[in-house]
Amino acid sequence: MHTNKHILYVAGTRPEVIKVAPAVIASRKLGSDVTFLLTGQHREMAHQVLASFGIEADLDLDIMQAGATLADISSRLIQRLAGYLSEKRPGIMVVQGDTSSAAIGGLMAFYERIPVAHIEAGLRSGNKFHPFPEEVNRKIIGTYADLNFAPTALARDNLLRENVAPESILVTGNTVVDAAALIAPALSPRSAASNRQLLVTTHRRENWNDEIEQICKALIDIVHKYADVSVLLPVHRNPIVYKQIHSLLDGQDRIQLTEPLNYVQLHDALKQSHLVLTDSGGIQEEAPIYGVPSLALREVTERPEAAKAGVARIIGTRREKIVEEVSHLLDTPEAYAKMAHTANPFGDGKAADRIARSLQYFLEDPASVRDKVEEFTY
Ligand code: UD1
Ligand code: UDP
Repeated sequence: MHTNKHILYVAGTRPEVIKVAPAVIASRKLGSDVTFLLTGQHREMAHQVLASFGIEADLDLDIMQAGATLADISSRLIQRLAGYLSEKRPGIMVVQGDTSSAAIGGLMAFYERIPVAHIEAGLRSGNKFHPFPEEVNRKIIGTYADLNFAPTALARDNLLRENVAPESILVTGNTVVDAAALIAPALSPRSAASNRQLLVTTHRRENWNDEIEQICKALIDIVHKYADVSVLLPVHRNPIVYKQIHSLLDGQDRIQLTEPLNYVQLHDALKQSHLVLTDSGGIQEEAPIYGVPSLALREVTERPEAAKAGVARIIGTRREKIVEEVSHLLDTPEAYAKMAHTANPFGDGKAADRIARSLQYFLEDPASVRDKVEEFTY
């Protein structure tokens, strides 16, 4: 029996805010005692998407430094979060995904013997450098988490293969589907487009330098080849990514570089796009919601569900290969039509509710969650 019913939700970066927000909203609705803490790993990009959900964080540890290394981020997280946790001692701390905020933040809770719940547990690419450092971050969290909210059955099986305790795993669906549903009423209707828009994002560490150069050159090739194709590329704030993309693509006709978009704007753009090219984890999960085919600019993915559903392909980062794959879909209506259908292999929009309720049960009595497993299964 737990006496401390305080739930601490932690988010650091843009995707964590997006995927934690629905659970925070669900827990607050249930009347749970909730604190929503931002580590501040991302500043503008995190606040921007938070505003899209109309909620606020309770506090911000403000750890971001321009151009920080992984070691800088980790040491600032440790310093600021450890002090907070030892003083406040929540009943459980909830982390999401695979960032430094999640892996190092969760470790600080473990050091204080505070239980940890992990949203989006069990994603694995099988390659420790793709994505880097996220694949290892996820595995680290899997070693200390007390509750693992696996988004899909595939993610659950990955955890079981690593001998994670079966009774700690609940298959909830991915909260990104809930996040998209929350902002759906604010989206504009799809309009008839005069040209075919490619929505492109790239920011991953393993794609810095050579790979981003290949991607940018492929985009130039594509707009030269197709007069009715345009590119919309919201550029990540990471200074390394920002400088490289701008230096390669500034001034190119029909390639529009923008600042990061808020969540509603990004989903409006996604809905209007003909095709998505991305190395983002979240966008790979969101594109199928709108029936927009996506091409993953990665060597491997920890989200094979979209490719299995036939709505995504993993195409790597070589210039010629990108041009070839995009050209195929632009030139072959049948191939395009095969991929352009809605699918929701990642969730049913009820993940946040399952998570919020299972946290309540856990705080009443950790063993009781197991009896409710059917109730929580997607
Ligand atoms: C981080 C995560 C990555 C996630 C990505 C989502 C780690 C190791 N990486 O990568 O898993 O996919 O976020 O976007 O946790 N910056 C700003 N303002 C912002 C955000 C970032 O100026 O709002 C700049 C800062 O100079 C910051 C830099 O971007 O130092 C990089 O941010 P960082 O958190 O190190 O890593 P990302 O590459 O964004
Ligand atoms: N996103 C956004 N504005 C943008 C680009 C992305 O709101 O300009 C959202 C996107 O819808 C997705 C999430 O941010 O939910 C993905 O974040 P990112 O690509 O930074 O991280 P990843 O998902 O790769 O960890």
